[in-house]
Amino acid sequence: MSSQLLTVINDNYQAVKNDGQDVIAGLKKSPKSLPPKYFYDDRGSELFEDICQLPEYYPTRTEASILEEYADEIAQLTGCCELVELGSGSSTKTRLLLDAYQKVGGSFRYVPTDVSGGILKNSVLELKEKYPNFSIEGFIGTYDETLAHLKSNPTPTSFVGTSLNRTICFLGSSVGNFPPEELDRFLNQVTDASKPGNYFLLGIDLQKPKEILEPAYNDSQGVTAAFNLNMLSHLNWRFQGNFDLDLFTHKAIYNQEKSQIEMRLYCQENVTFSLEILDLKVDFEKGESILTEVSRKFDLAVIQTEMETKGLKVKKVWTDPKKWFGLILCQA
Ligand SMILES: C[S@@+](CC[C@H](N)C(=O)[O-])C[C@H]1O[C@@H](n2cnc3c(N)ncnc32)[C@H](O)[C@@H]1O
Repeated sequence: MSSQLLTVINDNYQAVKNDGQDVIAGLKKSPKSLPPKYFYDDRGSELFEDICQLPEYYPTRTEASILEEYADEIAQLTGCCELVELGSGSSTKTRLLLDAYQKVGGSFRYVPTDVSGGILKNSVLELKEKYPNFSIEGFIGTYDETLAHLKSNPTPTSFVGTSLNRTICFLGSSVGNFPPEELDRFLNQVTDASKPGNYFLLGIDLQKPKEILEPAYNDSQGVTAAFNLNMLSHLNWRFQGNFDLDLFTHKAIYNQEKSQIEMRLYCQENVTFSLEILDLKVDFEKGESILTEVSRKFDLAVIQTEMETKGLKVKKVWTDPKKWFGLILCQA
């Protein structure tokens, strides 16, 4: 079967096939932390979709409003290409871009990629129906795995014989989950996965008052709390754990000094939990927390300079009228 017909390039992928060393390292540290990728099993992806609909959660609709206005311009600037999306989830906002590429015409390939295999496969199937003239193939994997795959798989030649230019896109300000040293490493990986002339489209959440930020991550319906707690269910399932979710509470605060939301789970008792598969016992003291996510809020000028130092030349920047969110298009 030609790879054009496959839905997911690596369908035999064992989701998060790592050995949980990052979980062990994070839970042995003081203070404890866990990588945000563990939010996302099928339930976590579903809960994230619910978060996107919350009145307090401004990032999704703000980024969508920028795409609604400028997707045509973005598609014209990059031209028809291979669009590889990191952490694509349901690809809902990306459809605005796909519609724009459809208007540009020509050969186009979309490669959504995500560590959460269920939502990825469902969205690939839906998109193949909606855009029958596009080549669409998903890739299940972490950002590291995806970027390594891209590095060793240069952009394909389209069916009309021309080589497709690659555009990597990373929406939803997921880049804000990287602390500074990880962001540095990530941008190097993007550069390594790009050839001169390739594009990188990055969505970033911008700095704004704490009064807007904190409710966005502590919504009144408790959906974000359920999403945060789901990380423990995911670990229970994946590593045969016995975390008691009732003993943890969710809270997100804005750390003004670091310009980042910090989301934690607080343990309400002195208690020990175990993760059998990892042969790990974890002691908690009453009030002790696990840092499950940081979400950095960027200064547009600073991040642009950072991208330029990585050889990613800023071509154009778009924001919403309130300057709450930004989209940056760079060229390698
Ligand atoms: C905040 S959601 C954003 C989804 C979508 N891009 C959007 O803008 O609405 C993050 C997405 O990235 C995926 N993800 C999280 N950590 C990841 C990792 N380390 N590698 C690959 N995908 C990851 C999640 O499964 C999820 O679909």
